[in-house]
Amino acid sequence: MAEVVVVANEDAAGALVADTIVSLIRSKPDVVLGLATGSTPLASYRALARRIADDAVDVRGVRGFALDEYVGLPAGHPESYRAVISREVVEPLGLTPELVRVPNGDPASIEHAGADYEAAITAAGGVDLQILGIGRTGHIGFNEPGSSLASLTRVKTLTEATRLDNARFFDSPADVPMHCITQGIGTILRARHLVLLAFGAAKAHAVAAAVEGPVSASQPGSAIQLHPHTTVIVDEAAAAEL
Ligand code: GLP
Repeated sequence: MAEVVVVANEDAAGALVADTIVSLIRSKPDVVLGLATGSTPLASYRALARRIADDAVDVRGVRGFALDEYVGLPAGHPESYRAVISREVVEPLGLTPELVRVPNGDPASIEHAGADYEAAITAAGGVDLQILGIGRTGHIGFNEPGSSLASLTRVKTLTEATRLDNARFFDSPADVPMHCITQGIGTILRARHLVLLAFGAAKAHAVAAAVEGPVSASQPGSAIQLHPHTTVIVDEAAAAEL
């Protein structure tokens, strides 16, 4: 059973996440962080950046693996997750850019990109702490409903609902890529500690299904129940259906 922590707001969640990650970095300077994109973890990244600066935490050895990436965006596109992770995580936290990986969404090498990414995570010794958001559809990473609970990093087709949700980051909904490359649910479950964040009423159903619903591929978030060490940090609105 996941530990559920209800907090007042995203900043309070951020303080908790920052405490947890700073302790980890101090005990393991080359810690491997699993990084989520989306709007949910942004306050936590900001809180962590402040803690690192205030406490002069040495993060030069910290490694990171992003959960997912769009397929086929031009290199340097500001909404590619490579660019988002640089802007929201690597730069503000002062991480070493070469130590932070994002799945490669270049169509030219997409056939082996999933296996390459799995190999890189394994070579790094696995992810110590994985930050997760959850989509309204219950997706984690870009593992949409129907994704195998044992899946590894691979190319997926985005659902219309997720493309519409993410259209706010693009000029028009038609600009949202059709495909993505995402760590699988099996990949995510190999991380040693999962920290799932969710805020706002729109996430209440997905949170309840993840924490209390039957474990099922139709609710990818429910896979967290298979993991022995999961922390779910939510505000009151996202906890409303628990
Ligand atoms: C996105 C990302 C997920 C994220 C989720 C929720 O599509 N691929 O990793 O957790 O959807 O997004 P948000 O945090 O913006 O609500």
